Amino acid sequence: MSFMMKPDRVLVLGGTGSVGRLVVQALLNHDISARLLSRDPRKAKRMFATTDTGSNTIDIAGGDLMNPATIADALDHVNAVILTHGAPHNSGEYESVDYGAIPALLEALGKKTIPVVLMSSIGVTHNDAIELLTWKRRGERLLRSSGLPYTIIRPGWFDAGTAEEQHAELRQGDSTEYGSVRRVDVAEALVQATFLSEALYRTVELFSVEGPPLEDWAEAFNSTAPDAAGALDGINDKTTLQLDREPHRIIDDLYKFGSMK
Ligand SMILES: NC(=O)c1ccc[n+]([C@@H]2O[C@H](COP(=O)([O-])OP(=O)(O)OC[C@H]3O[C@@H](n4cnc5c(N)ncnc54)[C@H](OP(=O)(O)O)[C@@H]3O)[C@@H](O)[C@H]2O)c1
Repeated sequence: MSFMMKPDRVLVLGGTGSVGRLVVQALLNHDISARLLSRDPRKAKRMFATTDTGSNTIDIAGGDLMNPATIADALDHVNAVILTHGAPHNSGEYESVDYGAIPALLEALGKKTIPVVLMSSIGVTHNDAIELLTWKRRGERLLRSSGLPYTIIRPGWFDAGTAEEQHAELRQGDSTEYGSVRRVDVAEALVQATFLSEALYRTVELFSVEGPPLEDWAEAFNSTAPDAAGALDGINDKTTLQLDREPHRIIDDLYKFGSMK
């Protein structure tokens, strides 16, 4: 097992969400402090008011993923970022929130180079992907292109499995064989990826299958392949998005923040 520097404090974008709040707990379990960005800091404060933080801290930054300046403020003294954000269904904000958080974060980071761990979704590479998933895929592609150390986790269906399905399993290739995943496994995978070098430059699907809880995350990540350097898509993704058919905004962002600069 090889560690990158274990972060002291991680910024969670989406930390008040159903997965994000478990990420905050998983960070504390690993002796890491958490900072959350929320549009409603008072709600966020109430959410964690009774959480035992031990010798660590949870601090809340008010801000909006559509406003890079607020993200920049929240980045002060953090050594990694985890994104578990998502716009509400049918909100029409998939471009501005699910995708938009990535260029906003890259703008806020400027020249700061820290690991970025992104929660995406299974199914983003399928030819019949719904609009939300295509915007999530575009966010993945911009992150891969950014040159930052990254890990992309694509969870299955949240908490849709049985009590026996406790073993976290990583897969690649975004097959149509869907499955479920425990939210706690998603949170643990995202946190492990902030400090395990085996997780670097990986794009993995995550499921919970029958069996005991996974103990060796380093080995699990190590048994997957890293993405090809400079590639926009994950290592085993079977489809691509042709750049000449992509919206102007995507090309502009790839020039501004990505490998096309
Ligand atoms: N359901 C599934 O089975 C499944 C499977 C794979 C992937 N996913 C994806 O997982 C994602 C998140 O899931 P979840 O259940 O954790 O979400 P959730 O409970 O709805 O939480 C969404 C989070 O995003 C944040 N957010 C939204 N818009 C924001 C903005 N403009 N600025 C700042 N923060 C913003 C919210 O923060 P505040 O409200 O505090 O600002 C909140 O913390 C969704 O996008 C979904 O597509 C779902």
